[in-house]
Amino acid sequence: MKIFLDTANLEEIKNSAEANLIDGITTNPSLMAREIKRTGLESTDILKQITALVNGPISAEVISKDLEGMVREAKELKAIAPQIVIKIPMTFDGMKAVRRLRAEGIDTNVTLVFSANQALLAAKAGATYVSPFVGRLDDIGNDGMNLVGEILTIFENYNYKTKVIVASVRHPKHVKEAALMGADIATIPYKILNKLFNHCLTDQGIERFDNDWKDAHK
Ligand code: G3P
Repeated sequence: MKIFLDTANLEEIKNSAEANLIDGITTNPSLMAREIKRTGLESTDILKQITALVNGPISAEVISKDLEGMVREAKELKAIAPQIVIKIPMTFDGMKAVRRLRAEGIDTNVTLVFSANQALLAAKAGATYVSPFVGRLDDIGNDGMNLVGEILTIFENYNYKTKVIVASVRHPKHVKEAALMGADIATIPYKILNKLFNHCLTDQGIERFDNDWKDAHK
C-alpha cells in the first residue's frame, strides 16, 4: 500500500521526504490555509515547494463550485507541475469537470466521498483516485472502513481502474485496516505517521539493550 502524507506543512513534508517514506501528498483548502497562515507564502509557492520535495502525485484542491471555474483552476494548478493531481469535490458539476479533465489527460482525486454510490459515480466519470473520508464517517457513528470495503468490492466487480485513497485517517488502526483490505493508498496526517513507528515493547527493548550494554562496560 502506498502512503501519502495529508498535509501542506513544508516542515512535515521535508522531514518525511528525508526518510523516503512518502509516495505522495494530499492537501485540501483547510490544510493550505493553515500553511499560508504559518508561512505567509502564497498557495502556488507552497505547492511549488512541495513538488520539489516529493516525487509522487500531489493533490491540490479547486475552490470553485461551478464546472467552468473548476476546469480553469485545474489548469492553473496543473501548470505548477506535471505531478499535480486535481482534487475535485463529489458534486454533479464536479463529475462533469472530472470527465473533461480526464479527456485532457489530467488526473483527478474525487474528494468528500461518503458513500459507495458516490465512489461508483466518480469511477464512471473517470476519476484517477477517490477519497473516502473514513474518520469523518466514524465521527458521526458510521463505519468508515466498511465503506472502503464496499468501494473496493465495487471497483473489483467492474474492473474500474480508479484507485482508492483512504482519507480522514484518525489513528494507526485505520492504516492497518486499509492495508489488510487492499486499499491502494492511505493518506495520513504527520501525527499519525509518527505513531506508526511506535510500540511500547520497542521502547522497552531499546532501553533494556542500552542498560545491558552499559552494565557490561562499567
Ligand atoms: O484531506 C482530506 C482528509 O484527509 C481530511 O481529513 O481529518 O479533516 O477529516 P480530516
